[in-house]
Amino acid sequence: MSRFTRRTAIGLGVAGIATGTLKSFPEWMARADDYPGTRIRYDAASPEGKEQLKIYARGVANMKATAEGNPMSWMFQWYTHWVNPNTNKEQEIDRIYGAASSADKMLALAMWDTCRGHITWAGQRDWFTPWHRMYVLFFEQIIRAAAREPEFTLPYWDYTTPGKRAIPEELRMEDDPVFGSLFVGKRNPGVNDGVQLDQTPLYPQLEQSIGQDPLGLDCLDIMHFRDQAPASGFNANLDMAPHGMVHVLVGNGQNMGSVPWAASDPVFWLHHANVDRIWASWNAAGGGRENPSDDTWNDMMFTFSDDRGQQVLAKTSDFVATEPLGYEYQELLTPPGVAPVVVAQADTTESVSAAPSPASQRLELGQGEASVAVELPAGTEETIAAGSQRTYLVLADLRIDAQPGVLYSVFLQPSADTTEGRKAVGVLNFFNAPPKDLELEGATPAFYSIDVTDTVAGFDTTQAPIVTIAPTGTPAADAAPVVGEVYFATR
Ligand code: C2O
Repeated sequence: MSRFTRRTAIGLGVAGIATGTLKSFPEWMARADDYPGTRIRYDAASPEGKEQLKIYARGVANMKATAEGNPMSWMFQWYTHWVNPNTNKEQEIDRIYGAASSADKMLALAMWDTCRGHITWAGQRDWFTPWHRMYVLFFEQIIRAAAREPEFTLPYWDYTTPGKRAIPEELRMEDDPVFGSLFVGKRNPGVNDGVQLDQTPLYPQLEQSIGQDPLGLDCLDIMHFRDQAPASGFNANLDMAPHGMVHVLVGNGQNMGSVPWAASDPVFWLHHANVDRIWASWNAAGGGRENPSDDTWNDMMFTFSDDRGQQVLAKTSDFVATEPLGYEYQELLTPPGVAPVVVAQADTTESVSAAPSPASQRLELGQGEASVAVELPAGTEETIAAGSQRTYLVLADLRIDAQPGVLYSVFLQPSADTTEGRKAVGVLNFFNAPPKDLELEGATPAFYSIDVTDTVAGFDTTQAPIVTIAPTGTPAADAAPVVGEVYFATR
């Protein structure tokens, strides 16, 4: 079911809704009287972006003043991502709407707890980028309505650029008459003082990350959108870094660092405008960076509310590019081009999930670092020597009891006998990790992989390398994160 324009709805009345004279999303988008032309989403640090932030602050204040059951309210939009974890969807729907049925209640039932990419498993993750593009687009239109400013565009926070990694000052001004609505007190220490995220204590030190930047753009070098096991795709890599890294560095388990809280912070939307910009930049960089072309991906639909509180059914294929949606970015990003990752086979119809390896190990993480010996697949030495295949360290089925609130550095060393030659190979976070008690009902757990070919090439491959995962600070005591499967695989 799509939305009605107001005209159709008034003209047809309730009977019209029931018999389904419905507008498709493209028809809805073509409301030339409401939203003509292409708008630019600006850098939040630019003069234009700063102007937009004033409108944003007014829109957020008005959304916060709107009754919570209204689809145009702040809480309704936050809950669309995920409901406050101190309660749950059922209880909140009961509390707010009671027993009677209503259009808003039906919309809440359809929309809340629907974020894709998180608390979900391998196949679902493929909609991380389009679902969040939809979410941001409809939110932006709600801000236009709430601030009575039809030209508004959501600014992006350009944190992948060093020096621009403090959250915009407009979001740090408690009690400010203009910007106060954008302030949240429970962000991580230093964040509301304007400390650059890469200068905060949780950021891995250089020796923990081999100069690999968890807030950088390595994901743009991955040429395949979907996972091609054992290589995780662009979409999954963006989800992990910089996306998840920003969440954990900005907020704790009661704020940006936790999925159910994240969208309650106004900085969430500036973060996701930038995530969307990274996706647009990936497509614009070309060279084979193509979105999936199959119907399974393209036909997937999600429910949202528009700027009049009406239901829209949005289809993935309408969200694969920004211009037809009426916006573009002030500036796109360029792939670092250090090591373009091209996997041996093109994108397939399905995401290729990782088949559990017999050598797979489980790694439970405590308050300090934890290690496990993991055997390399037979013949690794030959494939590396031949240069024909890459070797990946696969980390699958990440689970938590609660958000640990820190990042983790991943190290490899050649054998148990010596810590000599221990090397950092990557950085990890558990932002997207589902709770341990969530049943996957036969689905394959999501995985994330790190290309370790060059590191392993220096190893004596007859010995099982040691994989060590070390927190960048003190994890929350009740987090008990676990990596369900740790193994090496070649492709
Ligand atoms: Cu669905 Cu950044 O979160």
